[in-house]
Amino acid sequence: MLEPQMVRMDIESLRFTGKVALITGAAGGIGGACALRFAQEQARVACLDIDGAGAEAMAAQCRALGAEAIALTCDVKDAAAVNAAFAEVAARWDGIDIVVAAAGVYTGSPLEAVPDAEWLDTLATNLTGAFYTNRAAAPYLRQRGGGSIINISSMAGKTSWPASAEYSASKSGLIGLTRSVAMELAPYGVTVNAICPGNTLTGMVRRVAAIVGGRDGLDADAWLAQRTRDCPMGRIAQPWEIAGVTAFLASKDSRYLTGQAIEVDGGMVMA
Ligand SMILES: NC(=O)c1ccc[n+]([C@@H]2O[C@H](COP(=O)([O-])OP(=O)(O)OC[C@H]3O[C@@H](n4cnc5c(N)ncnc54)[C@H](O)[C@@H]3O)[C@@H](O)[C@H]2O)c1
Repeated sequence: MLEPQMVRMDIESLRFTGKVALITGAAGGIGGACALRFAQEQARVACLDIDGAGAEAMAAQCRALGAEAIALTCDVKDAAAVNAAFAEVAARWDGIDIVVAAAGVYTGSPLEAVPDAEWLDTLATNLTGAFYTNRAAAPYLRQRGGGSIINISSMAGKTSWPASAEYSASKSGLIGLTRSVAMELAPYGVTVNAICPGNTLTGMVRRVAAIVGGRDGLDADAWLAQRTRDCPMGRIAQPWEIAGVTAFLASKDSRYLTGQAIEVDGGMVMA
């Protein structure tokens, strides 16, 4: 059963027929919406997630849209597991064209209360995990003679707020990683860009709302309502709206666009 916030129902083009898309963090949220969008446009989709059952459920939804799709249990903090997943996908479908690094975690403690383990785990997942993913992707995309990497950063990578040191550092770092990898892979026809979403309706934003709102004496709904008021467009994003920009960055229409970190945030950072 497709949730309406996860998919755009009026797709009019099939840009990815025969292409292979590998997505980390694909069990739900933004990664899941990307998997569904590529499936709608008839890519072959590999859903990677530390939550293997969730990844399988998302792959099943992709298959229900008429696409070939598989699920692989993969912790992006484990370089060997990431390399093995890429090798398995490339062997199955004879290469890889599109890679989306969406796996991520949010913590969010006041600076003086950030446990070492929380700092290390956030950096390991959001930054090192994306590094492992980009590194594993490079040889396959070069062999293909072109392709796309899309790293899901955050508006927290461009601006910040209190009690977000580890998350902001990881997401700013991901923008730096994106630029360097873009420079290195540009001669091979591989574009590498980051997307910086604003608040997007996923499991993560609901957890953030509970943590951050709780500190301000607001319940999750009240905190989300406040974020809605802060946003120039007056609403929170749906995951498919981030997936749509991801698909654009994987399409031929963006072949000359690389090394960018694009805010998809309803005008939040601008404001
Ligand atoms: N939701 C937002 O408001 C928002 C805003 C800006 C950026 N982002 C970023 O978008 C990305 C997706 O977030 P989301 O909102 O969909 O969150 P989510 O929690 O709904 O989904 C994240 C997915 O990543 C997976 N994951 C976590 N650790 C992993 C690991 N070590 N290995 C593999 N998979 C792992 C989770 O199991 C989950 O399926 C994240 O990188 C997040 O930081 C989200």
